[in-house]
Amino acid sequence: QISHPLPSIPPSRPSNFPIHPLTRFQGASASIKRPREIAHFSYDDNHEYKEDESGVNYYHPPQMGADLREGFDTFRHYEDTENPHLDSLLRTLVSKEKREGERVQTDFVMWRGMMTKIMTTPFDMFAEFDLFATLHQGTIYIEEDFNKKAASRASESNSQSRHARPSHLPSHEIMTYFGYKFETLSLLPDLSSNVPRETIENREKAVTSNYAQHCSIVRTGFGTHSLVLGGEVDGLWEPKPDLQKFPDAPIQWIELKTSEELGQYPSDRDILKYERKLLKFWAQSFLLGVSKIIVGFRTKHGILRGLDVYETTKIPGMVRRGTGCWDGNTCINFATAFLDHLKRSITQEGVYKITLRKKSGVIEIAKVQQEGNGGILSEEFTTWRDDK
Ligand code: A3P
Ligand code: MG
Ligand code: MG
Repeated sequence: QISHPLPSIPPSRPSNFPIHPLTRFQGASASIKRPREIAHFSYDDNHEYKEDESGVNYYHPPQMGADLREGFDTFRHYEDTENPHLDSLLRTLVSKEKREGERVQTDFVMWRGMMTKIMTTPFDMFAEFDLFATLHQGTIYIEEDFNKKAASRASESNSQSRHARPSHLPSHEIMTYFGYKFETLSLLPDLSSNVPRETIENREKAVTSNYAQHCSIVRTGFGTHSLVLGGEVDGLWEPKPDLQKFPDAPIQWIELKTSEELGQYPSDRDILKYERKLLKFWAQSFLLGVSKIIVGFRTKHGILRGLDVYETTKIPGMVRRGTGCWDGNTCINFATAFLDHLKRSITQEGVYKITLRKKSGVIEIAKVQQEGNGGILSEEFTTWRDDK
């Protein structure tokens, strides 16, 4: 466990962070703080930013037997065409700082997805990522390389439809639709007790869209490092507590996932594959303090057959008693050590690139720009901070 400050690494040369051996990250986990929401925002049905709770939905169980392919032809699929950077997250922080007259102090700011990638690295040989980071007023801001992401998205959908995936199986696009359709069938904008039966049944005919979202921004900690993370939350299990009155009350967020059903006699390989998937589900939810993960099991062709509701905190124990293919404490300790390494490497103005290549076993950090922040920080944010 790393707690003492180590000397900084000169930025003149790239620094490597070896992933293995993992034994150095085993044992009890570094102290972690339960995430607390500090702000939130929504995107409306045109994907326009709203600083409110309009995008919050409530869970209401879906009907089994539903066809997740239904409505694919009318899917409203939002994908960023321009680099969104950290803009919405920073916009919400600026607004909070203006409102409260106090600066949000933290060591790291990023979208939750970046931290999910970092945390799951020890148990995913095929993981790869390209991130950018910049230091501003003592805080390290990290974002994804948008061009790399767009390129990998394009090659993924190509290779899946042209080579790897036989033509009788659903395409990559339809598989993506399954996930969003499952959300449409499991959520409503109002609490289930107030909702007429008809509204619940009409969900099956609703147009599926991923334009609208609700995002929670939390403060959390890994070892001695403090983090502010923002990420999408799929819905609420029960009403949000009054955080003015009870600032420590946990929020009952849920994460919805779909997965192919395991069948009555799953092979060892199928179980291993599923438990590996649980690592991603767990890490993603753990980081924002999402309390429940609801998995909808579907047939290969998208018929919803079953549901499992997991308490997020119980997943690492389940896997430990199961295949043991990953260990949550190792993930937490690995992330803590890596954040420490980032703090020692990212010590100057400019832009740094953080790269992991498949099976390479090391995360490389190199300074790629001597000045500025490469657009990671919005002008709104730097103007506000620099004026203050
Ligand atoms: P599933 O996870 O059920 O497949 P999230 O689960 O993070 O709330 O995302 C909702 C849905 O968005 C996913 O549902 C999936 O359909 C789609 N999605 C998210 N990340 C994706 C990715 N990297 N590639 C393809 N689809 C993705
Ligand atoms: Mg989601
Ligand atoms: Mg989801």
